[in-house]
Amino acid sequence: MNVAIETRALAKRFGGLVALDGVDLKVAAGETLGIIGVNGAGKTTLMNCICGLYRPDAGDVFVAGEQVTGQPPHVVAHRGVGRTFQVPRVFRKMSLIDNLLVPVLDRRASDAELIGRAEAMLERMRLIELRHNHAEELSGGQQKLLEMARMLMPDPSIILLDEPFAGVHPLLCKFMIDRIEEMARAGKAVLLISHDLTSIYRLSARVVALNQGRIIAEGGVDAIRDNPAVIEAYLGM
Ligand SMILES: Nc1ncnc2c1ncn2[C@@H]1O[C@H](COP(=O)(O)OP(=O)(O)O)[C@@H](O)[C@H]1O
Ligand SMILES: [Mg+2]
Repeated sequence: MNVAIETRALAKRFGGLVALDGVDLKVAAGETLGIIGVNGAGKTTLMNCICGLYRPDAGDVFVAGEQVTGQPPHVVAHRGVGRTFQVPRVFRKMSLIDNLLVPVLDRRASDAELIGRAEAMLERMRLIELRHNHAEELSGGQQKLLEMARMLMPDPSIILLDEPFAGVHPLLCKFMIDRIEEMARAGKAVLLISHDLTSIYRLSARVVALNQGRIIAEGGVDAIRDNPAVIEAYLGM
């Protein structure tokens, strides 16, 4: 297994609340690992600890075998980690093109080359017609696509997606699923958080179920679906 991301005994608390309680996981290059769990299970906290937005209280994070624990987000991003947020964080008063240029401004490439890449990316995301519009004019689902496009601009090898399908129209979901499949086929490691089991079962051969900051089950889609601990966590029975 060509391990792209690894966490070892990762722990994070907020005051007395234990949000992550010793999480060990590995994601291989070309794999889409699904993370499921009810609201408050610790999914976003896990992602925040991996990308450097939160400093874990204990445990370690490795990116392509190198320890990045506690490094700030821009350092982790430079190691090839890209992420999207549960509520998309686009630059609302900037055009779509300019949104895409932000993460690549420090690259040694001409403006024309970067703009060409941004346009190709917007084409791929079916947003090209809107390239000169402000991001705030997009629907919620389109903003998620724009954020995904911006995240892909520096060509990250590791992709963290936090609830990409939440509140998104089913047709757009289908389009996003195809884009995520492309990312994995291109050899990227994808960590996909969703509380929507159907979409995660489509994309992830292997799924980890989190509950109260711990991994309660891990395995193939069928095994997870029928796992008594997962059913109990979701249905409270
Ligand atoms: N910045 C924060 N400050 C205080 N508590 C937080 C913070 N972030 C997350 N939490 C708490 O940690 C727990 C896990 O949250 P989160 O990781 O967002 O869960 P999920 O993404 O699975 O819904 C929740 O109880 C949440 O309220
Ligand atoms: Mg969350």
